Amino acid sequence: MGRQGRSVTVVVLLGAPGAGKGTQAPLLSAHLGLPHVATGDLFRAAVRDGSPVGLQARRFMERGQLVPDDITIAMLLDRLGQPDAHDGVILDGFPRNRAQAVALDAALSARGTQVSRALSIEVPLDDLVRRLSGRWVCSVSGHVYNEHSNRPKAPGVCDLDGSPLVQREDDKAETIRVRMDLTLASLAEVAEYYDRTGVLRSVDGVQPIVSVTEALIGDLAPDGGAG
Ligand code: AP5
Ligand code: MG
Repeated sequence: MGRQGRSVTVVVLLGAPGAGKGTQAPLLSAHLGLPHVATGDLFRAAVRDGSPVGLQARRFMERGQLVPDDITIAMLLDRLGQPDAHDGVILDGFPRNRAQAVALDAALSARGTQVSRALSIEVPLDDLVRRLSGRWVCSVSGHVYNEHSNRPKAPGVCDLDGSPLVQREDDKAETIRVRMDLTLASLAEVAEYYDRTGVLRSVDGVQPIVSVTEALIGDLAPDGGAG
């Protein structure tokens, strides 16, 4: 990513587990023509492939804990170095704490660029838990559905590629609770980090999916949501 003098757009999507990051990121990706890079998806693919990163990440993910920063940051920076990320990315699930935000800034600044926008999707805790327990995902590409609010056309089948839908290992009630507890404090830390540099915008995530997308796109404009 980022030769000097190039225009690069780096959008960070922030939100608790279930806020809708993985639902909104592909829609923003289509709008901006930039790849959707989700550390959770990269880790799940590594686990499926049985790669060294997958073997290390698996025991943290199945307990709902964060994967250690050194593993996560190295994986993400490697992904940002790939050719399709030269003009920018939409980041989903990274950074998750201050150390990751600092590492991202350092890597971007070495490439002459910076985070353009941090968009926080806000959803109350009760809604988050309900959403996660009703979530189904495409077993091949991770497309996201919900048995209450966002049903596939045919039960158990992905609308987009016909793959079977599955429930995520970490969407069990007890793991959801751990993920919430561990995530919310560090998420506040990351939001504060971006608020200080003036790039943070927040949107109400309790609206129809299309309305959330419109709000996010509105906040991407240079002066979007300012004031
Ligand atoms: P990750 O995959 O990032 O999981 P997460 O942060 O817990 O977030 P989710 O994917 O659960 O939620 P989402 O916001 O994407 O919601 P979604 O769009 O699916 O991380 C998994 C694990 O990987 C972590 O626990 C950790 O172990 C590891 N990891 C990842 N990144 C890491 C990092 N940076 N550092 C360390 N470890 C890391 O939507 C949820 C449901 O709601 C769906 O069913 C959807 O259909 C529905 N929905 C969406 N929008 C709406 C709406 N507007 N109205 C009604 N329903 C909606
Ligand atoms: Mg997700």
